[in-house]
Amino acid sequence: MGRIIGFVSGKGGVGKSCITAGIGKALANLNKSVCLVDFDFGLNNLDLMLGIETNVVYDLTDYFAGRSRLRQTLVPDNEFDGLYYLSTHKASSFDAIDKSLLKEVITKLGEVFEYVLIDCSAGMGQDFKFIIDCVNEIIIVSTPNICAIRDASKVASEVFKLKKQAGVIVNKLRGDLVLGGKSFDEKQIAKTLGLKLIGVMPEYEAISVYSSIKSVYNTSLEVKNAFIVLAKNILKNTSFCVDYTYKFKGVIGALRRKLKARA
Ligand SMILES: Nc1ncnc2c1ncn2[C@@H]1O[C@H](COP(=O)(O)OP(=O)(O)O)[C@@H](O)[C@H]1O
Ligand SMILES: [Mg+2]
Repeated sequence: MGRIIGFVSGKGGVGKSCITAGIGKALANLNKSVCLVDFDFGLNNLDLMLGIETNVVYDLTDYFAGRSRLRQTLVPDNEFDGLYYLSTHKASSFDAIDKSLLKEVITKLGEVFEYVLIDCSAGMGQDFKFIIDCVNEIIIVSTPNICAIRDASKVASEVFKLKKQAGVIVNKLRGDLVLGGKSFDEKQIAKTLGLKLIGVMPEYEAISVYSSIKSVYNTSLEVKNAFIVLAKNILKNTSFCVDYTYKFKGVIGALRRKLKARA
């Protein structure tokens, strides 16, 4: 049985889809078989992050209605042989989906793939409760923003109540702000949330200006490396973090920090 991991958050826009897509690509790059499931009904954009939006033909609703087989519904990635994407873009809402069929599909994917990564919607609605029940592990994504941390802590308590294994990835960390004492760092955030730190993803301009011509994974070498480190942490249960502060250390670094603060 493969590892079925749900990517959740309290606050929206913290980078769940981006992180799910990047880690999926990185795991496939490390020769793992991976299926990415778009579970943000009505607001899905994982296909854009993977750069395969034009390849999507069938979605889960087609499979449920018997218009496609599961094998046909899974969209192969453009880059990695072992990577597939399951779309839900035709489903207007979570309510419109047959839950027992949905659970069956997730279990089936877990039997076929080494990793099933589920990109969830923000918050703690019915879909959140359903997904917690389906997965083996939960990754809570948060940014260093105070509101995101508070919302992540509410999600974490819900996950603890349901006795699921959970960890946190801190996204959009900025070295200049952390060194300047203006932002929490990943250790403070993991400690506040009482969660195991899975790793960090710095804030990269390459990601924020990303257009779906290539996947988010390929926006820059630094971005790719950071996703590989996250994927290895998931594989090996480690917590290595890329150094996102190095550019802002020393005399030149201090100058960079000043310039950034003025911008
Ligand atoms: N590490 C990052 N650096 C810069 N921009 C990021 C980063 N992670 C995510 N973003 C940007 O933040 C926005 C929200 O990301 P998204 O993955 O859609 O969040 P969510 O799925 O949690 O709603 C997107 O525009 C994305 O490009
Ligand atoms: Mg999303």
